Amino acid sequence: MPADYTPATIADVRRLRDTLDQQGRKLVFTNGCFDLLHAGHVRYLEQARALGDAMVIALNSDQSVRTLKGPDRPLNHQNDRAEVLSALRAVDAVVIFDDERATLLIDAIRPHVYAKGGDYTVDSLNREERAALENAGTQICILPLVPGRSTTSTINKMLGSGNAGACESKLRIAVLGSGEGSNLRAIIAAIQSSALIAEIAITLSDQADSNFLKIAREAGLTAQFVDGGPNPRRLSDAAQKEIFEHLERARVDVVVLAGFMRILKEPVIGAYQGRIVNVHPSLLPKHKGASAPQLAIDAGDSETGCSVHLVTSEIDAGLILAQAKVPVLSGDTAETLHARIKIEEHKLLPQVLNEWRERGLPVRGAGVP
Ligand code: GAR
Repeated sequence: MPADYTPATIADVRRLRDTLDQQGRKLVFTNGCFDLLHAGHVRYLEQARALGDAMVIALNSDQSVRTLKGPDRPLNHQNDRAEVLSALRAVDAVVIFDDERATLLIDAIRPHVYAKGGDYTVDSLNREERAALENAGTQICILPLVPGRSTTSTINKMLGSGNAGACESKLRIAVLGSGEGSNLRAIIAAIQSSALIAEIAITLSDQADSNFLKIAREAGLTAQFVDGGPNPRRLSDAAQKEIFEHLERARVDVVVLAGFMRILKEPVIGAYQGRIVNVHPSLLPKHKGASAPQLAIDAGDSETGCSVHLVTSEIDAGLILAQAKVPVLSGDTAETLHARIKIEEHKLLPQVLNEWRERGLPVRGAGVP
């Protein structure tokens, strides 16, 4: 009977690092949860190991995986995950750590090389982790991810086949917003009345004090603030990445932009292509951008409205799924007009989402030029 597996201690790894250092050889360090080992992990670890002469994996403890990925994870206990990893030829030691970030371990081990999976850039690395690496003189290497293989996609496949009826019928959505949150409130109401058969897995906002987040919290939803960075229209690379991670963790089918006023880019746009919808207060392709009701008044339009459309990398330009018209009345201000447009949005958006659930995309071609 083989002896029970015991993970390495920080002192063990530090000794390994010092021995290698004396020999002019290099210790590679990487970190992660490695909950359900797949070929993508194995290939990534092989590539990482080739950057030096030995490799240590800092493995997130069960507690830290729960914090990062939600209460359903990890699937496998930390010692089991460590034992499986340590059996790989690329891995020389596995050390378990409790924090969300590996900063303290990097400080203690001072590895020669740090490897990270390629959905990061050097700029989107956690600031503290990056500072610890620079302080230790560690070389940072970003390696490409192996496409099509991820723990989340494996879990989703398993859920899809084992639980088909339940999973097919309920749309799992994320709602992103920056402002008042009236569209979020309409989605919640539609779910409560069963007009929309969906589950809001997560809500995200770039505005910490927004009414949007307040509504989400009051409804008992997961409500997450993401610091978008200094530019009010752009999202920093780190924020783009953070939003992607939240969506992946929440295992959403569809991303709904309900008054989210910053521009989403990679990795979300690519990973959720065809599954991101936006509601916009004009009859697109007219009046794109941030002040659509005012633009309709300035243009002297007699009618405007709202559009629900797919989101692509081009602003307000993806396939239009549905539209509703609203008359522009004499004496309308941007505020009075926008308020009437929102009344239509509150009906249209839940309706589009439910039709999506029933039929799959595209829902309908209304308004497609
Ligand atoms: C909505 O009218 C939506 O169409 C608009 O922001 C408002 C958000 O209201 N979106 C855009 O202008 C996007 N270009 P809400 O926070 O009350 O739901």
